[in-house]
Amino acid sequence: MCGIISIRLAKLSDANILFYWRNDPLTRAASERTSPLLWEDHISWLTHTLQSTTQHVFIGEHEGLPIGVVRFSVEHDHAVVSLALAPAAQGKGLGKSLLALGMAQIGSTPIRARIRCDNVASRTCFAACGFVETSKDEDFCCYNYFRLAFECVVPNDDHISTLYEALKLREHTISHINLPTFEDHQEFIKTHPYRCWNLVSVATKYVGNFYLQNDNSIGVHLIPGFDHLLPVLLKQILNEYDPLPEIKSMRSANFILHVPVGDHKRQAQMNANGHTPLQITYSLQKEQL
Ligand SMILES: CC(C)(COP(=O)(O)OP(=O)(O)OC[C@H]1O[C@@H](n2cnc3c(N)ncnc32)[C@H](O)[C@@H]1OP(=O)(O)O)[C@@H](O)C(=O)NCCC(=O)NCCS
Repeated sequence: MCGIISIRLAKLSDANILFYWRNDPLTRAASERTSPLLWEDHISWLTHTLQSTTQHVFIGEHEGLPIGVVRFSVEHDHAVVSLALAPAAQGKGLGKSLLALGMAQIGSTPIRARIRCDNVASRTCFAACGFVETSKDEDFCCYNYFRLAFECVVPNDDHISTLYEALKLREHTISHINLPTFEDHQEFIKTHPYRCWNLVSVATKYVGNFYLQNDNSIGVHLIPGFDHLLPVLLKQILNEYDPLPEIKSMRSANFILHVPVGDHKRQAQMNANGHTPLQITYSLQKEQL
């Protein structure tokens, strides 16, 4: 199963599948209340939850089939998140994608999670989305989400080598076909041709970089294993930056994201996240015409 999933709001017609998932023994064992749920209680909980303005329930889908649920319960100044995959979807690394998609839906409310200390898969999944353990009791660890850290690119040794290593890992590129030499790369960083260029970290771990250009295009590069963060990163960029004013037929009113034509995974991810593809750009070389 490829990891591209989308999410949608839950409906009452999801009652059966949610009951099945919530009563899955692994999910029960991971919950605060471990006893099996009764159908009547489940229906009354779901009816109430779907009507509530403080509860947000999203169903993850893969190729149109439901694969899990991510739920946010807003309490005072924060939201508590819970996550459960369908039994057949567990163990495939889909949890972090579903979690990240949910996080991108609920604004900038601080997010917290309570995870059983022995639930290593869940703890790994939350850590991969930027959650950091803040306290623990006998059974549960408390995690808070700390937004992605942005650090302005400067031409020091550390940033130059971090970006060069990241460049080596890139599978798809637009502006260069072969890896530039280290010296060319160094020069490029010194010229810093962008409106803004930031390194991105999750709890001190470097996960990628992005830049904004004066034509309102955004370039996003996430290192392998962190593609799931795309919706969270785009959301944070759009919260923190405004596009430059529109210039008709020169500069779009909105930010736009360029995706290499061979990067089918990123294209599928953008489509699944509900973004509209705009154009295919061709390179025109004189000698070919
Ligand atoms: C917990 C859950 C959301 C995790 O999602 P998932 O995508 O199935 O997670 P995976 O099993 O693929 O594991 C995630 C990561 O943990 C690692 N991991 C899993 N079990 C591990 C173990 N026992 N020891 C070390 N690492 C482990 C995996 O290797 C993977 O690492 P990677 O991302 O670096 O490859 C999902 O399994 C689930 O819904 N479980 C039932 C309900 C539940 O526990 N919900 C969470 C309540 S807080």
